[in-house]
Amino acid sequence: MLQRKMHGVWKSRWTFVLAATGSAVGLGNIWKFPYITGENGGGAFVLVYLACIAVIGLPIMIAEVLIGRRGRQSPINSMRYVTEEAGAQPTWVGLGWMGVVTGLLILSFYSVVAGWALQYSVSAVSNGFAGISGSQASARFGELLGNPSRLILWHSVFILMTTAVVATGVTRGLGMVARVLMPLLVVMLILLVGYGLFQGNFAEAFSFMFSFKYDHLSWHGVLTAMGHAFFTLSLGMGAIMAYGAYMPDHANVGQTVITVGILDTVIALVAGLAIFPIVFANGLEASSGPGLIFESLPIAFGAMSGGHIFGTVFFVLVVIAAWSSAVSLIEPGVAWLVETGKFNRLTANVILGGVSWLIGVAAALSFNLLSEFKWLLGMTPFDFLDFMTSRVLLPLGGMLISLFVAWYIKKEVIEEEMDAEGHPMLEIWLFLIKWISPALVAIVFVWALWGSIAKLLGVE
Ligand code: PFF
Repeated sequence: MLQRKMHGVWKSRWTFVLAATGSAVGLGNIWKFPYITGENGGGAFVLVYLACIAVIGLPIMIAEVLIGRRGRQSPINSMRYVTEEAGAQPTWVGLGWMGVVTGLLILSFYSVVAGWALQYSVSAVSNGFAGISGSQASARFGELLGNPSRLILWHSVFILMTTAVVATGVTRGLGMVARVLMPLLVVMLILLVGYGLFQGNFAEAFSFMFSFKYDHLSWHGVLTAMGHAFFTLSLGMGAIMAYGAYMPDHANVGQTVITVGILDTVIALVAGLAIFPIVFANGLEASSGPGLIFESLPIAFGAMSGGHIFGTVFFVLVVIAAWSSAVSLIEPGVAWLVETGKFNRLTANVILGGVSWLIGVAAALSFNLLSEFKWLLGMTPFDFLDFMTSRVLLPLGGMLISLFVAWYIKKEVIEEEMDAEGHPMLEIWLFLIKWISPALVAIVFVWALWGSIAKLLGVE
């Protein structure tokens, strides 16, 4: 390998698995997955989501890891390397740039939501949910959203937490997240499922999530599930590419990616099984939307015995999950700045953390001072950032990555990296990334654009 390995290499395949899982498992699993499952009627939605992970997500994830491991650098320079090696047009390097920008945009609003979880951890520690009623819980959440300085404070704390980990470097910083925080997260979730099993309405939660009710399956739900597959697996922006660059040479890419996909999916399902039993046992609405964990669960935690401890465990868990994902949102840009030779990891973090922080301030103000500022496609800055990244940039990035690998990278190179010459699975994967995944993603993409244009034109 001529490429530099200046950022270090994971100690083992397992550190990659844990770090990639840390990136994948985040607010998408614990905050977003349960509420969109609730909004889309449960079982049928879950099934479509699982199918999307398998048919679109995992094949594209393999493609991302492959580019990263071949290039062994930041997504920008890895794209440059594989583009030159493949003799493709240099414009493909733009994919790396797009990823860096997308990561910073996601981090800016992701950090604001993680900030809510930080505030809720503190409230839970100080037993702030005791005996709280439904209207009080909603009012409490509304108060938080209406308090610009509080939101900016927690957003700033979260950006600092993220940059502190990334600044300490891959083997120390990211490795620590992988080795210590991920297992802790799993332990906490299992604890909560245990609670749901004995104290919550587990049977109803289980049947809600896994009984296939055909009539609940709308076209909108299918497309929501598809879009979420990208977000939850951290695909389409180079996060997994950057982590792939630190993967040992002889780790099997296919098996590794499938492990990460399974862990991410299982954790989302387990998060659902931790949350819904509490929701149903307390007569709460499964379809209450983005406020599901912030407005509804405090009522349950406030009413149950031991809710003080369970509430704290739950929101700390959300913060940890968000933290290990946020690290991967900034790493592609940091790695690139370090590669320019002009910055060390600390300075790179200060610069990029600062950019995300600044954009995040606009996201935080979307709930108060800027709530009427809807110049961006009729959306607040927060909604616009979420829309642009989840609906446009991630699907577009994922589709292009998949097309690039399938149509430009030489078969010998793919076989060498995959270490699977002539294996039937290799052919199936190539077929998927050549035709199926990009076509399905294109549908999501067109739908997302059409949906917003239709909304703007008022022809929904
Ligand atoms: N996968 C993360 C989640 O589910 O919360 C979010 C995310 C992280 C998206 C990193 C994209 C990314 F590159």
